[in-house]
Amino acid sequence: MAIFTSSTQAIPEDRDVPRHVAIIMDGNGRWARKRFMPRVAGHKRGVETLRQAIKACASRGIEYLTVFAFSSENWRRPPEEVAFLMNLFVVALNEEVDRLNANGIRLRVVGDLSRFDPKLRLLIEEGEAKTAVNTKLTLTIAANYGGRWHILQATNKLAIAHPEKIGNFSETDLAPFLAMAYAPEPDLFIRTGGEQRISNFLLWQLAYAEFYFTDLLWPEFDTTALDAAIASYRKRERRFGRTSEQLGVGQEPRAPSSASLLQDQNA
Ligand code: IPE
Ligand code: IPE
Ligand code: MG
Repeated sequence: MAIFTSSTQAIPEDRDVPRHVAIIMDGNGRWARKRFMPRVAGHKRGVETLRQAIKACASRGIEYLTVFAFSSENWRRPPEEVAFLMNLFVVALNEEVDRLNANGIRLRVVGDLSRFDPKLRLLIEEGEAKTAVNTKLTLTIAANYGGRWHILQATNKLAIAHPEKIGNFSETDLAPFLAMAYAPEPDLFIRTGGEQRISNFLLWQLAYAEFYFTDLLWPEFDTTALDAAIASYRKRERRFGRTSEQLGVGQEPRAPSSASLLQDQNA
């Protein structure tokens, strides 16, 4: 398995198009309520939006798309809504896997799947196996996912694999045990629905992601909205700890840097 460069260990390559986009698809319930429909109608509509987003990401050269579908905290919702979401996951897998496969898309599901119905787990396994050789885009669905769970499962696996090193683990030791070790870190993080929080999504992996928040509710997040997010990303200066001057950008006159002040003194 390819191990990707960590943003804290080395400076990632600068690209015009984000290689990995991670999305918190929020606002389905409010979208439906605004239309006097039950909240779950928003979830159903949200699947349509996701289908369009996958297509758009693939055609824009994005290689990894990771979406938050169900958090480890979403079990706190009314049981009817949880049951609807579980069933929607089953229906969507049944309907979409062949289409994903035909479009060269690899499906991965990340999260604590042990709490899911065996039928759903089987569908996930089959969907992942069926699409395993595809390389156009890797679509990761985060389901019963929590960022803390993700870090802890990796830590526990590492401790079991290397008990002799406990107390001396490095980031590089942990990386291969992360459930998403198959993907580079997200470049662009998008959250729809107006909230500006991370809600226990990819805590480890978002270390240096660019954040983009929009008030659009997830069912309203169309291709134009995605392009606006990518355009915003393009304007960002990703410094990864360095200064603008080191990046060689911003040629317009600036206050002299301390380095040039020193040179002036020496002149
Ligand atoms: C996101 O939409 C989908 C899930 C969390 C499953 P919400 O259901 O959170 O919609 P709002 O935020 O209540 O509008
Ligand atoms: C985050 O949305 C999880 C998903 C989109 C699946 P929530 O709607 O559950 O987040 P909070 O509760 O508002 O933080
Ligand atoms: Mg929400």
